[in-house]
Amino acid sequence: MKQQLIDNLKKYGQEHLLKFYDSLNDAEKADLTSELEKIDFANLDKLIKTYVMSKPEMSIPDDLTPAPYFPMNPETAEQQKLYAEAEAEGKKLIAAGKVGCLTVAGGQGTRLGFDGPKGTYPIGPVSNNSLFSFFANSIARLQEKYNVKLYWYVMTSLLNREATEKFFAENNNFGLEKDQIFFFSQGTMPAIDYNGKILMNSKSTMALSPDGHGGTLLALRKSGALDHMKANGIDYLSYFQVDNPLVPVINPLFIGLHALEKSEMSAVMLAKTNAFEKLGNFCISKGRLEIIEYSDLPEKLATMTDEKGKLKFIAGSPAIHVISRNFIEQLTASGNLSLPCHRADKKVPFIDENGNLITPDKPNAVKLETFIFDALPLASATMVLECDRVNVFAPTKNPTGVDSVESCRMMIMERDAKRLEAAGVKIPRNPDGTLNAKIEISPRAAFDEEDVKNYVKAKNITAIAAESENYLD
Ligand code: UTP
Repeated sequence: MKQQLIDNLKKYGQEHLLKFYDSLNDAEKADLTSELEKIDFANLDKLIKTYVMSKPEMSIPDDLTPAPYFPMNPETAEQQKLYAEAEAEGKKLIAAGKVGCLTVAGGQGTRLGFDGPKGTYPIGPVSNNSLFSFFANSIARLQEKYNVKLYWYVMTSLLNREATEKFFAENNNFGLEKDQIFFFSQGTMPAIDYNGKILMNSKSTMALSPDGHGGTLLALRKSGALDHMKANGIDYLSYFQVDNPLVPVINPLFIGLHALEKSEMSAVMLAKTNAFEKLGNFCISKGRLEIIEYSDLPEKLATMTDEKGKLKFIAGSPAIHVISRNFIEQLTASGNLSLPCHRADKKVPFIDENGNLITPDKPNAVKLETFIFDALPLASATMVLECDRVNVFAPTKNPTGVDSVESCRMMIMERDAKRLEAAGVKIPRNPDGTLNAKIEISPRAAFDEEDVKNYVKAKNITAIAAESENYLD
């Protein structure tokens, strides 16, 4: 081991990481050394002092105003014209292969408590299809619609990369070609205990976790994904989270508006259902768009209403973005990107000074993460578009309750039922309006409302039987 590394560990009070070094075999020694060499200890030390040894007071800008956004439906003749042009532009860009899909799937999915990468979760209410398959089937259908090959960037973490790739291979890449799927891994951050020490989870490994979805931008550069995009003529990334099977993997209007408005990073917004809904809030400060987390928005602002009683800070974020490749290239040009860190107190298993593995029953460490939306204020131009929640957002965070597998499955079935109804199909409903049948449409068969109409016509479907199970594929 290089003396400089040993000196650094001593200088920054992390020499305990070598406590078991002499007892390791050669391979373990090499692994530990290589992991330690990846750490910028001077920078980490600053982060530990700022975010672990002290809890930074969240300073909320005092000039916050609600962010402007394009409404779901155009409100003026001028807007109507713009939306029509934007939709046409979006379709043109998709057909020209200028748009790639980006799924962030590097999270640990702790709340879901599922053994395996979250994207492999069988979310389909009738099909039991995985989250990944929803996106793959959507991509396959879009390729058919636009007669184009679409590329799919899938971000994993080092912890779930192998399992994710294995799942894709076992499923024959869901019918997509292998070379159109680009896997890449995000960075990691060590867990830090309350004394500012990096935790180890074995004698030769540190307790590492993914560095947050903010890590996506740098990982795109470091992995060669940006070069791959450039080589394949991709200018825009349609960004979405792995736990939202309802998301349209590419939204032509959203892409088109992003391009026509010359935005560098755009965002979908949903009208919040109440002042305290757990969605980040789109705000403007010093002329820049930013997201203030629900827990940080002062109550006075969160509850403020206009003369019609509508929330002023109405715009909530479902974490759906379009990001220009140029913007990511600029941000990461130096090979580094420092987004603000967010601190989370977690229970992290660790080994004590005798080498025994301890599983804590209360939070014992801090994990530091960066968030993708902190790139918004760095963009010279941004754009926010309101979308209909029913069509774009069904988060799968927990097994039951709010934002759960249960609620997500209901939302998928309800969205699909509504699309069938709009296409003239009679749907059985209970007196309270809830569905009295199980319904799921494969995005491979029908990606959007137009597709559903054509599907229904082609198959001559007029009604769904009560209490039946239907997978339309
Ligand atoms: P969440 O913040 O909901 O985290 O991620 P999670 O890891 O899925 O679940 P919990 O909090 O442990 O229960 C939102 C999205 O961002 C991705 C996740 O995979 C998910 O799609 N993500 C999160 C990453 O890709 N990397 C990260 O480091 C964190």
